[in-house]
Amino acid sequence: MQAIISDVHSNLEAFQAALDDIKRRGVSDIICLGDLVGYGPDPCPCIDLAAEFRLCILGNHEEAVLFEAQTQGFNPRATGAVKWTAKQFDMLGDDREANARRWDFMGAMPRIYSGNGTLLVHGSPSDPTREYIYTTDVRNPNKMERIFSQVEHLCFVGHTHVPGIWTEDMTYRSPEELDYVYRITANKTIINVGSVGQPRDNDPRACYVLFDGTMVRFIKVKYDVEATVRKIYAVKELDRSLGDRLREGR
Ligand SMILES: [Fe+2]
Repeated sequence: MQAIISDVHSNLEAFQAALDDIKRRGVSDIICLGDLVGYGPDPCPCIDLAAEFRLCILGNHEEAVLFEAQTQGFNPRATGAVKWTAKQFDMLGDDREANARRWDFMGAMPRIYSGNGTLLVHGSPSDPTREYIYTTDVRNPNKMERIFSQVEHLCFVGHTHVPGIWTEDMTYRSPEELDYVYRITANKTIINVGSVGQPRDNDPRACYVLFDGTMVRFIKVKYDVEATVRKIYAVKELDRSLGDRLREGR
């Protein structure tokens, strides 16, 4: 059994709650699909926790922190958060050694992993860190056919912060519609694992999936949202709306 998580976004309270839930289920094999940082108030502790994982894929927010020019497509709130996040990894401050390790860790994140017919990316196989696969893309067959042509069997993604399953028959199903469980078939399937630290499916709980090779199970975990909101409000470089949105998961 493995836990596949994504989009922690420096939300330590959500991350800790998800990790406690994963541990309680006896699962130790954890994969992250990117965006450990960005938006939230605790980038360094989130990076440190993820350093123990089997695999961490590069997200667009790590990419933006690593290569400052990579903020095209970021709105002003996100860009402000990227700049503040990069400063937390300051190589000249007291935390020099720990930050050197954090830069090395982020710098080593692969953009794509493929094995056993399964692809792991942050966004999409076509543009691993940037392209979004939206729930409404089932009405955009050209786009979905292009994406599916790069998938051998399964593809796990994050990036939109909206969990669900896309199948080649141009169907999207939300976790609720699936009763939170999807049995893998022989058909090509794209699985969005949702977001731990900034869900946007109108459910404020942290979301991740468990996968055992045959079943995908969507897990939702409650956490202390107000604690994270207070921390965001306390950092002037982080827009208050980044905290507000956590209350509703939007
Ligand atoms: Fe993200």
